[in-house]
Amino acid sequence: MSILRSSPPAAAGPAVPGHVAIVMDGNGRWASRRFLPRVAGHRQGVESLRHCVHACAERGVRVLTVFAFSSENWQRPADEVSGLMDLLVRALAREVPQMHRDGVRLHCVGDRKALSEKVCKSLAQAEAMTAGNTRLVLNICFNYGGRWDIAQAAAALAARGEPITETSLHEAMAMAHVPDPDLLIRTGGEQRISNFLLWQAAYSELFFSDRLWPDFDEAALDEALAAYARRERRFGKTSAQVQPPQPQSRGPVVA
Ligand code: FPP
Repeated sequence: MSILRSSPPAAAGPAVPGHVAIVMDGNGRWASRRFLPRVAGHRQGVESLRHCVHACAERGVRVLTVFAFSSENWQRPADEVSGLMDLLVRALAREVPQMHRDGVRLHCVGDRKALSEKVCKSLAQAEAMTAGNTRLVLNICFNYGGRWDIAQAAAALAARGEPITETSLHEAMAMAHVPDPDLLIRTGGEQRISNFLLWQAAYSELFFSDRLWPDFDEAALDEALAAYARRERRFGKTSAQVQPPQPQSRGPVVA
């Protein structure tokens, strides 16, 4: 059960998405354009993530979910994979104490079986330290894939002999602790989902930015939030059904 479903919303207008999910794409290109190794782009990506967490909390977003390492990223060159593992451990050690002071609760979402003991330990420590925080939930998807999540949820239900329904699957998934994302942003100019939140993004509003992730600053976030605020979310209904009731006309004013 989501800790956020039972909490009152932050002081934010209804047009602020409660849950923002981001495919942080473009680190490699950012680095290549500067003749730097790809991992330098990922390091700069951590800086961008820190600013984004802060900005989301300030704007009243309650959940931020980021794609940091996909099930498919193991196929990258070994030095990039080990660079990302090291970066995660270092970033958690450096950033989590401040996140804790800022009221951020951290969750790692993904298959931990393939992760090293060192990585698992630092994730568990970060989660334990921030477990009591309620201002913003930060889900770091690491060794995560949407197909993995659907399959592991179905396997867990089958192992328990439980029926597979939309509700039971949803509750067995790794993202069951938060509501579905309202807004899904992808940076870096590509327009695809890439196995991110396949189930949960069914009704998310999509926003694609040409900015590379290390260049995705507060102004770029605000552009995405403004685009979201202009969308009409119908969830399968008609426009008339989801329009808020208009105030009654009082007729012409006569002297
Ligand atoms: C995709 O860009 C990005 C990743 C696979 C890694 C994302 C990681 C970070 C933003 C750093 C934060 C991570 C941690 C460990 C907390 P890409 O490398 O595919 O970029 P490209 O499309 O330009 O090659």
